[in-house]
Amino acid sequence: MDLHSEAIERNHRLQTLAPEVFGALSPLALRAFFPKGIPYQASQAASCAINATIGQITDGFGNPLPLARMGELLHGMSAKDAFLYSPIQGRPKARQLWHEKLLKEDGRMESVGLAAVTAGISHALSMAAELFFSPGDTLLLPDLYWDNYEQIFGIRLEGRFERYPFYPANLSGFNVEGLRGALARVPGKVHVLLNFPSNPSGYSPTPLELQVIAQVLAEAAADRPVIVYCDDAYHGLVFEGSATSKSLFFELLGRHPNLIPLKCDGVTKELSFFGGRVGFLTFGTSKAAAAILVDKSMSLVRSGIGSPVGLSQYLMEEELLDPRHDASFESMLAILERRYRILKAAVSKPTEQWRVYPFNAGCFCLLELRAGLDAEEVRQQLIAEESVGVVNHGSRYLRLAFCSLKEEAIEPLVEAIERVCAKHV
Ligand SMILES: Cc1ncc(COP(=O)(O)O)c(C=O)c1O
Repeated sequence: MDLHSEAIERNHRLQTLAPEVFGALSPLALRAFFPKGIPYQASQAASCAINATIGQITDGFGNPLPLARMGELLHGMSAKDAFLYSPIQGRPKARQLWHEKLLKEDGRMESVGLAAVTAGISHALSMAAELFFSPGDTLLLPDLYWDNYEQIFGIRLEGRFERYPFYPANLSGFNVEGLRGALARVPGKVHVLLNFPSNPSGYSPTPLELQVIAQVLAEAAADRPVIVYCDDAYHGLVFEGSATSKSLFFELLGRHPNLIPLKCDGVTKELSFFGGRVGFLTFGTSKAAAAILVDKSMSLVRSGIGSPVGLSQYLMEEELLDPRHDASFESMLAILERRYRILKAAVSKPTEQWRVYPFNAGCFCLLELRAGLDAEEVRQQLIAEESVGVVNHGSRYLRLAFCSLKEEAIEPLVEAIERVCAKHV
């Protein structure tokens, strides 16, 4: 397919501004551009006295015409914010507020452009991958990872995976040397996905580990593109002072032109708004280059989901602006932390049935079952015999989601797992 002249124009500009980023784009990203079609023309005409551009049903004065029950339920909210389309790149206020939140966390965000809004974090990851990942490319992953990466990078994008153990043999922390070794095994352009705090391990690195990881990635980018997907879904949910609450993304900014950090985050866990489907894709490039990448993202959003959900962006904006927000987040964190501490004590009691992997953050802990046990079999038995649900990770691990447990259920959960494991000789 011939490239559209608009795509060629974007590509030329990006090639001038950031040749390394341009060189790392996927064929789809090279084709993508946000067209001067209906949403573009409608936004240009937004302040016209007579606006006959967009297929949005209004009263003729720019207000929506909600149907009865939905209007009733959302009464008290600004109807325009609740019912009308969001811009394709996301609502300006939502993008700005999210940026300010990140800037408060780390001053290095000053150099970074506004994110593209996505329909949740999976979508942010998927779009990031679509922009940079070509069929046959390799993704480096630790052996403990969220299963949806296989759908995104494997099923959708026909990628290959190069794995390394998440923890070193002595379980002393994140396996930085494993990452270094995996980078050395893959020649040429490489993609690295890091998810801290991790699902399923519940581990967040120490500040020092974070710096070493960044250093290793920068070294690997000395002579080839290294695209780093920072999956920050569980950002901020950290329960030990020794674990960093900073994103790896900040550490990677400005390290090397070949090192391209992409931040995927959102309201799902951080703002406890699971059904809201607001995610953000932030490009760790210059602002001018990021603006072109946002334009290309808008092509993917427009062709995939049409536009992001306006109503939940509005709710997110109101939450972030609310004077109670910080306190409200802290009280959610305190609830999680109490569960974390109870679980930590319960799974750390001496037992022959499992080994607990280090965890200090996020929503999960991971047990490595003793030899002779099959995690899927144990999981099935837990449902059938104990009315207990957990998730198996491969044949060796059980993942316990303490984020959804009341405190009183935690010890009984651990006791039930021990009972079932002990039945197997
Ligand atoms: C590691 C990780 N990344 C991303 C997500 C996806 O978040 P969302 O529901 O916003 O797509 C999850 C959800 O469970 C997750 O565990």
